[in-house]
Amino acid sequence: MKIANIEDLRVAARRRVPRIFFDYLDGGAFSETTMHANIADFDKVHLEQRVLVNIEKRNLATRFLGSDYAMPLMLAPTGFAGMLAHRGEVQAGRAAKAAGIPLCLSTTSICSMEEVRRDSDVDFHFQLYVFKDRGLAELMLERAVKAQAKSLFVTVDATIGGRREKDLRNGFRTSRRPTPGALLDMMTRVRWGLDMLRGPWPLFGNFTDVPGAGKDIMAQALFVGRQLDPTLTWADLAWMRKHWKGPMVIKGILSVEDAQRAVDQGADGIVVSNHGGRQLDGARSSIAVLPEIAKAVGHKTEVLFDGGIRRGSHIVKALALGARACLIGRTYLYGLGAGGQAGVTRALDLLRFEMDVTMALMGVTDVDQLRDDGARYIRNAA
Ligand SMILES: Cc1cc2nc3c(=O)[nH]c(=O)nc-3n(C[C@H](O)[C@H](O)[C@H](O)COP(=O)(O)O)c2cc1C
Repeated sequence: MKIANIEDLRVAARRRVPRIFFDYLDGGAFSETTMHANIADFDKVHLEQRVLVNIEKRNLATRFLGSDYAMPLMLAPTGFAGMLAHRGEVQAGRAAKAAGIPLCLSTTSICSMEEVRRDSDVDFHFQLYVFKDRGLAELMLERAVKAQAKSLFVTVDATIGGRREKDLRNGFRTSRRPTPGALLDMMTRVRWGLDMLRGPWPLFGNFTDVPGAGKDIMAQALFVGRQLDPTLTWADLAWMRKHWKGPMVIKGILSVEDAQRAVDQGADGIVVSNHGGRQLDGARSSIAVLPEIAKAVGHKTEVLFDGGIRRGSHIVKALALGARACLIGRTYLYGLGAGGQAGVTRALDLLRFEMDVTMALMGVTDVDQLRDDGARYIRNAA
């Protein structure tokens, strides 16, 4: 099938990847209302068409998180990415490097931060869940410094796990073993199986030497679930600051008050995010809350954005509404599941192309124009 858009990559990934992993990637919390709203609410934002502007030369390159990148885009931290394709995070890192954008590596990646660092010199940032065992969190931070992570993303919207009902049905992360149906389905995915059999058998790379974390991935996943700290509060950010000297980005902000608090506590950036609708179902979409948060703190901190980006025009809208850059989760994972590094590259090429055409038809020749003068390009914000 000719891959014309991100939805085509999604269909291709669903064909190739076992249901248990595809459902984990594709699903959201409870009724998935927020997950769907993340995408649907982009339709409420309208772009201004401007004509007879010389658009021959166009520029998507820009600066965020202290570096220059080929476009205002970054791969979001996503756990288990390495279950979608052989050494998935390494392949994603190569695609990001080739596209001139950074990658944020999840705590629960299959490839460890050291493996990703060794493989390519992609700009990599590290995402941390602050564990109950602060000694373990500290250890992760020390490793991230050694692996030259450019900044730390502290995820604050998952101090307990959201329930994704498809995972429950598949027995994924909710029990020690997948259901027999899920196991049977896995055995029928021959291309995926042959790819993964190239080994080594996947584990959470950042936990392989952690005592008590378990020796197989299901045990490790349960261990990490138990380590999420429901007592985490703003006071703990001071602890983070003490142990991490580089830039710190707070991921999972969805209200103006929390955005302001993050800035007051010295965050160098925030990610306006509802975890892709995987945590609080019923929360507003990311794009609906972005304008008010950007207005409140955009002049004091770097406002990043994620949730529901499936089109280049979605990125254009988010930038015009105040985001400095966007992160993509499922969109790159569909590519990874469909075709490894080449699939991620396809996803990034599609977004780049769509962004470029969208900007051109709006009479915008430089991506920074959207950020500097966003209101000019948007009508009827969500
Ligand atoms: C399969 C999957 C795993 C994820 N794992 C993590 C994670 O480990 N840490 C984290 O901070 N966010 C995680 N997220 C959330 C993403 O970083 C991001 O916020 C979200 O995917 C954005 O929405 P989108 O998928 O619509 O682009 C995950 C998302 C998905 C889809």
